[in-house]
Parts: sequence; C-alpha cells; structure tokens
Amino acid sequence: MDLSIVIPTFNERGNVRPIAERIIQALAGAGYSYEILFVDDSRDDTPTVLAQLAAQYPCVKFLHRSEERGLASAVVKGFSLSAGNYIIVMDADLQHPPELVPIILKRLALADVVIPSRFISGGSDGGLNIFRKLVSWTARMLGRLAIRRLRAISDCTSGFFGLHRSVIATANLDPIGWKILMEILVKGDYHAIHELPYAFIARDNGESKMTWKDQYDYLRHIVRLARHNPEDARFITFCLVGAVGVPVNLLGLTILLNLFGLDVALASVVASVMAMIHNFLWNDIVTWRIQKRPPLWRRGLQFLQFALVSALSIAITAAFAHTFFVTGWNPIAGQLVGIILATWWSFVANDRWTWGRPESQPALVVTREYAGDSL
Ligand code: GDD
Ligand code: MN
Repeated sequence: MDLSIVIPTFNERGNVRPIAERIIQALAGAGYSYEILFVDDSRDDTPTVLAQLAAQYPCVKFLHRSEERGLASAVVKGFSLSAGNYIIVMDADLQHPPELVPIILKRLALADVVIPSRFISGGSDGGLNIFRKLVSWTARMLGRLAIRRLRAISDCTSGFFGLHRSVIATANLDPIGWKILMEILVKGDYHAIHELPYAFIARDNGESKMTWKDQYDYLRHIVRLARHNPEDARFITFCLVGAVGVPVNLLGLTILLNLFGLDVALASVVASVMAMIHNFLWNDIVTWRIQKRPPLWRRGLQFLQFALVSALSIAITAAFAHTFFVTGWNPIAGQLVGIILATWWSFVANDRWTWGRPESQPALVVTREYAGDSL
C-alpha cells in the first residue's frame, strides 16, 4: 500500500465524515492505494459515525480505545496498525486542509519528512486567537532553543506532516502529550526535510482539546527529548549552572558589602568573578564531565578560556542594552535579548573551544518551497 493517513480523534463526531470524504475526493484519480486510519478515544458517539463510514468506504478503518487517551499515543498506535510506505498524520477538525494530501505525497519523493508550515512565506496561522498565538510561539521557541535538531524547522509543533515509514521503523517512540512530530524529529532516521506553506484554518466544529496540563507535559517532553542528544543535554545543564550562578553572585555581593564593607563597584566585580569561578567549576565537573581529568596547567588554561568567553558575553549583553537604549527602546529588553544571545554564544564557544567537543550530529538538509513554486 502506498499511503496511510493517520487521524487521531477525540469527540469529533461532526468532523470525521467531512474529513474522510474530502481526503477521498482529493486523492480520487491520483492512482495511489491508501487507507484512512482513525485512532479514536472519543467519549461521544464518534465511533458510531466511524463505523458507518468504514461500512461505506473500504479505505476507512478505525480503532476505538475506551481505556486510553492521548494524542501522541494515538498517533503511535496508528503507526503500528498502518500498512502504507508513506504515512501522513493530520487532525480531524479540518484545520489541516485535506487538499494538501496529494501535494505532500508528491513531495515525499524529494524528502524523508514533509512538513506543511504555518510560519514560512505563504503560510498563515489565522485560525488562532492572539493568546493562543503567543502560547504557541513561546512553546515553539523553547523547543527550538533546547533541541538542536528542531532549530532549522519552522513548524516543529505541527500536528500535520508526512514521512517515509523507514523514518520511524527503528525509532523507540515513547510519547507523552501532543507533539509527536518533535519526538520523531529527535529520534527518527532521516536527513532531508521539506517544508511547504499552508493556511491553518479556523476550527468551526467542536473545540480545541488542549489544556494547561498539556502545556506542562510539553515542558517535560522537551527536557526528555533534549536528554536524548548529549549536546542538547549539555546546553540545558549549562543554562541551569548559569541560573544558579545568579543567586551566588547576589549572595556574594551582599556579603562583601555588609560584612567586608567593600566599595560597591569593587564588590560587584569580585562577586561576578566569584560567580564565574563557581560556574566554571560546575561546568567542568557536571556539564562537560570527562572520565580522565586533564593536567592542572590545561585546566588553568581552560579557566582562562572560560573567563574570556564570559567577558565577551558581558560585552555582547552590554552592546544590546546600549543599542536598545540609544534607539529609544527599553534597555532592559535589550539586556534580556543580549543575555539570551550571550548564553547561546558562550555555550557554543565553551563547547567547541574551551572543552573541545566536536559537533555530534550530522547536518540536516532542509528545503522550502513558497506559494506558487512549481516542483
Ligand atoms: N485519539 C485522540 N486522543 N485524539 C485526540 C486526543 C486524544 O486524547 N486529543 C486530541 N485529539 C485529536 C483531536 O480530535 C484532533 O483531531 C487533533 O487531535 C488535534 O486536537 P485539537 O484539539 O484540534 O488541537 P489544536 O487545534 O488545539 O492543536 C492542533 O494543531 C496544532 C497546529 O498544527 C494539534 O495538532 C497541535 O499539536 C498542533 O500544534
Ligand atoms: Mn484543532
């Protein structure tokens, strides 16, 4: 069989018939053999509608789970039941246009994974209100910051994507929450990704099932996925060490001022140097831990390298605060942007230079098309 379309459903009684029929229509005459596989956890009468659909169209199949729930686990269940060489995953609520299915299928000849994207030129996420947009943006940025593999992908939290079966054949998928695509991108076997723009449509039947618990699960999911790749794990530990360095710095300052009566500028510099030594030691012992310790002179040199990188980070941060200030923006916002960039820069510099770790992952090939491209 050429294609399996896996659709997770939870209380979608009004949507399953239109989506199945629009997919059938979109694929009519294209000459592919395919199945539409619903994995349903509904507590309403969606299964009754699915049974009618399956009786009417031989390509429609469904599994109803009355004990289990979860979007990602439903998709993984769908993978294990599916028979197609290609798999496309999409939502049931018509926010993902079924007319894109044959195009994704064609693009799968060019890439291992095809991701329709709301966030490249020609795409739009018009179906979300401003609050959902902000939550969705923050979630995506956190994922892309923590996980290197996701950085080149514009819509890594999408519930709409296509892949070759071989991508997930040996991946040990252990899904929590919603973002199964992120897990596939971290654990799957692939090297070429293709993105194409699409307009995410407003939902007009039923409502979103996303809850605050899902947002919390998402953070757990990111941390778990980040631990999968040693470099991402080092980055998270590096950020944690840096975060602990801040109270160390402030505590040091308080002690120097109150117990030793130091001049403020001097106390501030000494406190920062103390925090830097603290950060260096923890990074040396935990973040970049190695079995065999190098000789003392080498570690002294590493400390100097670390200090130099830190000094440059401070300069980067100050440059942003200053630039924001002179252009009339809020210097605190500039400082924050500077801190984020400096953190990222100092991690890369320390990883590659101070502690000399080579890049650990093969490069990805990401191709993009824009509205109107003829491929
Ligand atoms: N089987 C099953 N079990 N399906 C579920 C469950 C569940 O526990 N929860 C939700 N679904 C199904 C819904 O019925 C729908 O088909 C699909 O998963 C997406 O659920 P929505 O409630 O419509 O999610 P959303 O619109 O807020 O977010 C979706 O779109 C975003 C953008 O592509 C999700 O796919 C997000 O992961 C995605 O980021
Ligand atoms: Mn939806």
